[in-house]
Amino acid sequence: MVYLDFAASTPLLPSVETELFRSFQEDYSNPSSAHQYGRITAEKIEYAREVVANSIGAYKSEIIFTSGASESNNLAIKGYVLANKNKGKHIITSSIEHKCILAICNFLAKEHDYEITYIAPEANGIIKAQNVIDAMRQDTALVSIMHVNNELGSIQPIKEIGNACLERDIRLHVDAAQSYKKLPIDVDELNIDFLSLSAHKIYGPKGIGALYIRDLRETRIQPVIHGAGQEFGLRGGTLATPLILGFSAAIEDKTIENSFNQIQKINEFIRTETNNMKGLINSPEIDYIPHIINIRFPDFDANQFITNSQILCSQGSACSSLNIEPSYVLTSIGLNYIESMNSLRLSIGFDTDFVKVKVFFNELNKFLNRL
Ligand SMILES: Cc1ncc(COP(=O)(O)O)c(C=O)c1O
Repeated sequence: MVYLDFAASTPLLPSVETELFRSFQEDYSNPSSAHQYGRITAEKIEYAREVVANSIGAYKSEIIFTSGASESNNLAIKGYVLANKNKGKHIITSSIEHKCILAICNFLAKEHDYEITYIAPEANGIIKAQNVIDAMRQDTALVSIMHVNNELGSIQPIKEIGNACLERDIRLHVDAAQSYKKLPIDVDELNIDFLSLSAHKIYGPKGIGALYIRDLRETRIQPVIHGAGQEFGLRGGTLATPLILGFSAAIEDKTIENSFNQIQKINEFIRTETNNMKGLINSPEIDYIPHIINIRFPDFDANQFITNSQILCSQGSACSSLNIEPSYVLTSIGLNYIESMNSLRLSIGFDTDFVKVKVFFNELNKFLNRL
């Protein structure tokens, strides 16, 4: 089997595994307890909070631990707009956001009468900043645009959008689940007000993530999970110490950063081989992260390939890949039903090498010739 589905989830790094096992055994006290053990655990969590904050140029008082990017997206969008209805009831997002963003916006439109503007990407999967700017209005409460698209790897012009939001006093939320540790992120430089992160996309444990909230103490946010005052009263529930420390270990580990150049070479190899086999690249030619590449071949049943071959990859995002429906991301960039069904998303990890990628192309060749 060859795993080429790192955008869906990643295995644990050895450093993360070690920290998780240690912490599950040792850090069992409740970090909210006033006794000595509670305080020691709380200090470890505060260290992890600082690791997250430093990695994005934030203060640790602006970081909330959540269960992952889906929850962070919920807290940022619902939490902000529902607590700030006076700002207006218009939200701008894109048609290629992760499904959870689309679901949140749908909920706000249906249950709370928000008006949502969905910006369509260009044919290369990149959203034009100007289109987002043109959609901004007096009553726009929030703009939510992902940093990197999870199916195409396209990088969105966050800095330009962030500058425009700042000029107009509109808050910007960015889902960075796919870009974190693959691209540099500085929340001040990009003018980001809310940033969603997930540990299991960076070789950390599943079930943990974080939300950055600019000036958290001065920002009105409605909690999504009400509880006993944890996480500045914004996210109830006893903190998951081992997961938080595992997340922090994944952030401190430099394996992702160190593998960038190798992954770029593998991406280029996949592009060349795809062209040689008369395939097409759905991902952009510039402004992409090399970790994700979306390709298509005429007369190719991608779903059959995924279910019957030795290659572990996806047709679209993992959450929707059990549906035999064309990916809405691919239809948004102008692919028709058949072209979408002909498409495969390959996502590359730090230990993906040329041998594994050649196994993929061999399997693909066998499959295409069988048709
Ligand atoms: C862009 C994006 N946002 C959000 C998510 C959801 O992340 P999590 O599984 O941490 O909730 C994913 C994962 O598929 C993603 O790719």
